[in-house]
This record gives sequence, C-alpha cells and structure tokens, in this order.
Amino acid sequence: MKHFVNLKDIPSKDLRKIITDAKKRKNSRKKLNTLETDKGAPLKGKILIQMFEKPSLRTRMSFYLAIKQLGGGTVTLRSNELHLGQGGESISDTAKVLSTYGDGFMLRTDSDKKIEDFKKYLSIPVINGLSPSSHPTQVLSDVFTVEEITKKPISKLNICWIGDSNNVLDSLIAASVKFSFKLSIGCPKNFEPGKEVRNWVKKNKRKIYIYNDPKKAASGADVIFSDKVISLNDKVNKKKKIQAFKKFKIDKKLMSFANKDCIFLHCLPRGNEVSEDIFLGKKSHVWVQALNRVHVQKSILLYCFGKLR
Ligand code: CP
Ligand code: NVA
Repeated sequence: MKHFVNLKDIPSKDLRKIITDAKKRKNSRKKLNTLETDKGAPLKGKILIQMFEKPSLRTRMSFYLAIKQLGGGTVTLRSNELHLGQGGESISDTAKVLSTYGDGFMLRTDSDKKIEDFKKYLSIPVINGLSPSSHPTQVLSDVFTVEEITKKPISKLNICWIGDSNNVLDSLIAASVKFSFKLSIGCPKNFEPGKEVRNWVKKNKRKIYIYNDPKKAASGADVIFSDKVISLNDKVNKKKKIQAFKKFKIDKKLMSFANKDCIFLHCLPRGNEVSEDIFLGKKSHVWVQALNRVHVQKSILLYCFGKLR
C-alpha cells in the first residue's frame, strides 16, 4: 500500500509509471460507456471513502468515476456530519474505524497536519484531494494532459504559470523537479512562492524562474497555466489581492508573448484571471483537462492499492 499526499515525496519513476498506465487505460476504453468497467476489474470489491471539508465538483466526480471504472465503489462523507467534524471524536479513532470499513481514503482539507495525522493512524492508503500546500492529483493529471495534447514529453516544454502562489502551484513546482521541466512563474512581488518550496527546489538542484512581469513569464511558453486569484478559504483582503493581480490577467495580448502553439490550461473553478475569449478559445483545453482527472486518478488508485501494472 502507498499514500499519495505530496508529489515531492513520490519517486519520479513511480509518477511516470502512473502516467504511462493512465495513457494505456484511457486508450483501451475508448468504446466503453462511462460506467463500464475496465477489463479485469482490478479494484473489484474495493471501496474508496472520500471526505470533503471544502467544496468540490471535479475531484468528487472524477474519483467516483475512477473507482467505478476499476470495478469498485465509493462513499462520500462531509466531515461536519461526523463526530470528528463536531469535535466529538479524535482523528486516531476515526482513522482506525475508516480503516476497518474502507480500502482507501481520499481527503480534501484545510489542514496539512490533518492529512499527516490521518496517515499516522490509517492502515489504508490516504490520497490528498487538495490541502493548503498541495493538489497532487490535479497536477499529475495536468502533466498527463500536457503530454497528451502536445504529444511531447513535458521535459521538452516551457511551462508557465501566471497567477497566485497557491496549492496548485506548489504541486506544479514539485512536478517541475520530478519531471525536469522548465517552469516560469508570473506573479506580483508580494505573492511569490514561499521560502520552503523554493529551498526544496534548490536542494534538489533545480531552478524555477519567477517574474513580476507577466509578459516575461509568458515569453516563449508552450503551456500557460492559471488558477483563481482567491482560493477556497483564502484569508486575505480580497479586494487588495485582486487589485495586485490586475495586470496578470491572461488575455490575447499576454498569450501573444507565448509560442505560436501555446496551450492554455486551468484546473477550475475560474475567477476573472483569464479573459472569456482565451478560456473558451482554441488554445484552451480545460474540458479535457478536467476529464483526464478520471483517467489519471484510476492509475493513482492502482498505485496506492499496489496494483499498478
Ligand atoms: N480542480 C478541482 O479540484 O476542482 P474541484 O474543486 O471542483 O474538485
Ligand atoms: N487553488 C484553488 C484550487 C481549487 C481546485 C483552491 O485551493 O481553492
């Protein structure tokens, strides 16, 4: 059994194996309907427990479909409906009980520590479905999407992030080290990635490129990523933050600094960080990006359950 909490802690070769498996599985079920099971039903009889402490559309639905297509099932909990959420039961007792009922546990939470605590007491794998410092299932799936669309290994591409230094960017930075791709970041001075993640990059003898001018960050990019300026439960002065990001909006003008074939990706949900014509335009691949969460998470589940081919 393996946990899937932070890309930083997972060996590159395992991440690559997950992507390779996802590609094969996606190709081999082209003729199957959404709820039909992959050949061999590798997770037949297994149940994934999902718990959300924050809203979710994509993560919830894509994990539901992922485990279903592998022959298993899922149950979704909201923490405020449990004794845990009301403060009446400890993480350790909750984790032990979940381990007796389920085969895997996916958690979306506002606390990185909570995931670590669950990890300590669970005897089943835990998957991070978004935490303050990480959104690993999203970003691994995004690496898959980039390679699927460009038909190139991501290590050969210039990847650019225009936007806030949040959980998705932290995972993208981890991916840039694990998959050896060039990552340029465009953000205001006061919203640059934190010291901890920057030091981790240095320790791994890699570099990320940070610009406070979005044009410089976008220059020569093959892929431009973005995310909302205000994340879920972001405790900031929203007006001030949105003002600080004003000149970082992704529009036609900014895209013109990127390479001709540059694609646009966004994990969704979106705010005003990208113009409508870019988001819905030819260069945008956001819908297939959302769909690919299903395919990559299937291989993540197999990895966690020790069943990756
Ligand atoms: N991208 C993503 O994780 O979306 P949800 O918040 O809807 O799950
Ligand atoms: N950075 C966003 C991602 C949502 C999928 C958030 O944490 O709200």
